[in-house]
Amino acid sequence: MPYICPICQSPLVKHLPSQGYYCKNKHHFDKAKEGYLNLLPVQHKKSKQPGDSRAMMRSRRHFLEAGFYQQMAKALATIIDKHRTENLPMRILDMGCGEGYYSRQIEVLCNNSDTLELHGIDIAKNAILAAAKKQPNAHFIVASNKCMPYTGEYFDLILRVYAPSNDAEVQRLLKPDGLLLVVTPGPRHLWQLKEFIYKKVNQHEINIDLPNGFEQMESQRISYEIKPDQEQRMALLQMTPFAWRAKGEVQNNIQRATGLEIETDFILTLAIKK
Ligand SMILES: C[S@@+](CC[C@H](N)C(=O)[O-])C[C@H]1O[C@@H](n2cnc3c(N)ncnc32)[C@H](O)[C@@H]1O
Ligand SMILES: [Zn+2]
Repeated sequence: MPYICPICQSPLVKHLPSQGYYCKNKHHFDKAKEGYLNLLPVQHKKSKQPGDSRAMMRSRRHFLEAGFYQQMAKALATIIDKHRTENLPMRILDMGCGEGYYSRQIEVLCNNSDTLELHGIDIAKNAILAAAKKQPNAHFIVASNKCMPYTGEYFDLILRVYAPSNDAEVQRLLKPDGLLLVVTPGPRHLWQLKEFIYKKVNQHEINIDLPNGFEQMESQRISYEIKPDQEQRMALLQMTPFAWRAKGEVQNNIQRATGLEIETDFILTLAIKK
């Protein structure tokens, strides 16, 4: 079984009639009708609705489903395929998976995806609910990256796209020789959007912080221009960390600009657990 109890860390066993899970100490976790498990005990919650808000999640889904980041998703799928042993099952965890876009893309874009066991974890319940509804054959849980309730050395690959890390947990959950695939923003990511917001836009440093005990295998930079329409630009803005700076006038300017082209810039890094 992949899961451990978030309260006492004992293995979780499936209760077949209800499809929920329980541990030997009688901690019990129901399966939601949408198919996900909530393994975030109230005592681990720092706020009532931790993680991204429902509005941010909806903006992210709207924007991603329009396909603007599909080229990057395709590169992720290519890296995964390149490092798979043909026909052997592979267990993949998307940490901080949000509404599940990359899990869905991996299923669509990877070869022989029926041999992939896809898992996703996020602290935001609304995001996991949306992810589980759209991809019933994947395994989604609500839990924190700080304490991921999976058995040690369960996964072959962990994917982290613009999400907070926990190095010790990544180290614990990956099999020996397991892979960590990280996407971080490149120096010019969303440059033209930022020009509306900041007086002077600074290039992002390329800063790939790998956990101790990992060795970089490859890194690639992918950049291309996108041309979102007015509504899609607003969705893109809402899913960025600088959205709160773009109020009133600035927001209007972004929305009204004609033919706005925006650079994307992603750094994809693959590392192996030693
Ligand atoms: C920028 S979003 C990226 C979502 C997704 N990877 C994507 O690119 O579409 C960051 C995600 O991390 C989640 N998150 C934030 N803190 C977290 C934590 N401690 N544990 C798990 N997820 C967390 C948020 O709820 C949000 O869905
Ligand atoms: Zn327990």
